[in-house]
Amino acid sequence: MTIQNSPLRSVVLGVGSYLPAKTLTNDDLARIVDTSDDWIFQRTGIRQRHIAAEGETTSMLGEKAARAALAAAGLVPDDIDLIIVGTSTPDWTFPSTATQIQAALDIAHGAAFDLQAVCSGFVYAVATAEKFLRSGSHKRALVIGAETFSRIIDWEDRTTCVLFGDGAGAMILEARPSTGSMDERGILTTHLRSDGRHRAKLHVDGGPSATQTVGHLRMEGKEVFKFAVGKVTDVVDDAFAATGITPEQLNWFVPHQANRRIIDMSAQKLGIAPEKVVATVHLHGNTSAASVPLALSVAVADGRIKEGDLVMLEAVGGGFTWGSALIRW
Ligand code: ACO
Repeated sequence: MTIQNSPLRSVVLGVGSYLPAKTLTNDDLARIVDTSDDWIFQRTGIRQRHIAAEGETTSMLGEKAARAALAAAGLVPDDIDLIIVGTSTPDWTFPSTATQIQAALDIAHGAAFDLQAVCSGFVYAVATAEKFLRSGSHKRALVIGAETFSRIIDWEDRTTCVLFGDGAGAMILEARPSTGSMDERGILTTHLRSDGRHRAKLHVDGGPSATQTVGHLRMEGKEVFKFAVGKVTDVVDDAFAATGITPEQLNWFVPHQANRRIIDMSAQKLGIAPEKVVATVHLHGNTSAASVPLALSVAVADGRIKEGDLVMLEAVGGGFTWGSALIRW
């Protein structure tokens, strides 16, 4: 079976990530709000999260992840002509975080922009970059998920503050000729969905136009949980259907790192064996758009993900938004 008519395919050249130096453990949190390591770990699988230092912004985290990905790819910043940053916590209302990272990398050509799909931001950005590269308009994309959710958390709300952390991850994609065979490296298929009727279940209660404030994250946890497990797997099934690849053929499932129970239940529902699931949520909590590339970086660095492997990315976020990307690594 072959897919896509275009002779170009987006091939992953490298990934990288960055976590701020400061960690906040569950025990640390128990000194701030009425919670415990047991409660947090049992329900979410999270042990700790990283918190950006004062003055350390989303673009600074993104730049560090980008430099790590460039080093892994053996490239220099000038090789990049497209930067897409998935973030819901930009440094500024404008200009975009992507242009700040572009400037920090001293790149003065090409295009850079942000993409806002909350926790699905990285998968949305990968899908967007892939379409740019496949069209032939750009040659090499730097795709970043970077967040400082610690800045929009209500630190007095124990139902949300225990879940999130800061971090960044990045991936370099290059347009390469392809015959369309699924044995060739590159992104095989992407599937994006959204349903804007669910704002109340997961939102930030501030914004430049509505309140002229930044606001805080608000969530109906049980409702998000139900949606994440009940609905989101459809985009993974769509990726299997579009390619004819089966869960048994998949080497790695790298889902959004929000909650270990959501990750395990989703994999089980999809028929993906537990040993193929990459889970790093215990190390950094939910870092929104940064979570998928953070998990990817860990699994590439420790040698699990190897060239030629079939890797399924999946994410779900506020909106709701959700999506998948199936990659021949
Ligand atoms: N520590 C101790 N107790 C707590 C805490 C806490 N941090 N938070 C809530 N509780 C209490 C509640 O007050 C409640 O007490 P009560 O029974 O006396 O009223 C009890 O624990 C149970 O609360 P629930 O909300 O029913 O707990 P639940 O089992 O649903 O777990 C959780 C809550 C972990 C948030 C779960 O609903 C969940 O994981 N939801 C998914 C949310 C998620 O992953 N969001 C990520 C963002 S979405 C995304 O990334 C797309």
